[in-house]
Amino acid sequence: MPVSEVNVSLSSQEPSGQPVQDVHVLRPLRIAIFGFGTVGSSVARILTESQPEGLKLTHVFNRGVARKRVDWAASDVVWSEDSEAVLTSDADVIVELVGGLDPAGVWIRRALAAGKSVVTANKKLIAFHGVELERLAAAHGGHLKYGAAVAGGIPVIPGLEQGLAGDRIDRIEGILNGTCNFILSKMEEGAEYATVLATAQARGYAEADPTEDVGGFDARAKLAILMRLALRVEVNPEEIVPRPITTISAVDFSYARDLGCTIRQVARAQRTDGTVAATVGPMLVDSRSPLAWSRGTENMVILSGHYGGDVVFSGHGAGGHPTAVAVVSDLLALAHGSRRVGLPSAKATVAAEFEVPHYIRFLVDDRPGIVSEITGALARERINIRAIVQKPGYPQHALPFVVTVEPCKSSALQRALEQMKLMDCLLEAPLDLQMLE
Ligand SMILES: NC(=O)c1ccc[n+]([C@@H]2O[C@H](COP(=O)([O-])OP(=O)(O)OC[C@H]3O[C@@H](n4cnc5c(N)ncnc54)[C@H](OP(=O)(O)O)[C@@H]3O)[C@@H](O)[C@H]2O)c1
Repeated sequence: MPVSEVNVSLSSQEPSGQPVQDVHVLRPLRIAIFGFGTVGSSVARILTESQPEGLKLTHVFNRGVARKRVDWAASDVVWSEDSEAVLTSDADVIVELVGGLDPAGVWIRRALAAGKSVVTANKKLIAFHGVELERLAAAHGGHLKYGAAVAGGIPVIPGLEQGLAGDRIDRIEGILNGTCNFILSKMEEGAEYATVLATAQARGYAEADPTEDVGGFDARAKLAILMRLALRVEVNPEEIVPRPITTISAVDFSYARDLGCTIRQVARAQRTDGTVAATVGPMLVDSRSPLAWSRGTENMVILSGHYGGDVVFSGHGAGGHPTAVAVVSDLLALAHGSRRVGLPSAKATVAAEFEVPHYIRFLVDDRPGIVSEITGALARERINIRAIVQKPGYPQHALPFVVTVEPCKSSALQRALEQMKLMDCLLEAPLDLQMLE
């Protein structure tokens, strides 16, 4: 039964003695927003201004709620700082926009166990507990929707659940973190990491502590969600080891350009012959690839289907209004009783490795014999060199140069890098980046 449909049995028999059918009265879905911050207030704004059919904002819950009140919301909205009162109210759907594992997880479990439906944008909670929460929803007759949890306003999740459900997706490649994309695309234009990060923080694109974003943890949670819906595998997000973008410097963009590439934080996962590989980190992407076109805070996801080929999603991956659009779309789907395609998934471990070309950048105090030590370490792991590139204009005592290698297993390259790290000329550990072809 759609949540918006209310069964009202007026009486079991008409005066004539004939049984009456249940009268189905359609009333709007009553919505309680938990968390009136960037996204929560945007959801309230859309519900108030657009008044989408079948949706009514009835409650707003936030700590210290008095300072959150706005004059543009309907006068009958209940503003509360009592989560329990709102959870036990007549609201049909809890829209969780507080974020984090707890207490958001506690509220969502309570709502689902009470038979309410939940809409959330909380990627962390869904990445770690999504399967369990979906089971809880199903067991109590409610629904859990999280279309805003990956790529904000871009309908990747609805796309997977509806338009692509008939395909078998074998590969995901995506730019899933707008903060990293903003930083890297500005560095591509010549800016320094620290300066761009400060700009991103001033504009509200990056947190005061940017580790979740620049360390790859945010993109990893989103990748785990996409893996479940696209590759149909349930993985522990912690098995995906993220690599930070903080190791990238201007010289890497300069060398990348010479190689016909640029650098983006890419989340990628692939299923081959029953094994699953997944990784998140800065990578060299071909300048002609759609991933290279994505700039600023944009997100992009490329899903490669066995039958339908590549499908590209792009747009605003974050921000109050774009994310709120995804939330309101989920609410409309609930109100109109649209049924999700149940996508089966099975537990899997991230065991496989990507076999791809790599870019290795060295910074050395130059002396004779360095290249032969590097080629020796690679040869012992049977890794073929593709090119050695050294740009002019750098001092001998701090000389950056790049070696690119043919597709090889990451584990073999790691062993070679361990040998190279023993070289006394290194000023810092070699930087290893996958190259997307
Ligand atoms: N912002 C985006 O672009 C974006 C995009 C995609 C997904 N999301 C997801 O959407 C969710 C919300 O993000 P947001 O950017 O809107 O966050 P936000 O601006 O920080 O808003 C969170 C709201 O929740 C309130 N809150 C936090 N902890 C609370 C607690 N323990 N009890 C009661 N209220 C509490 C905050 O109140 P205070 O004002 O008192 O702190 C604030 O109003 C997160 O899961 C996020 O990952 C956000």
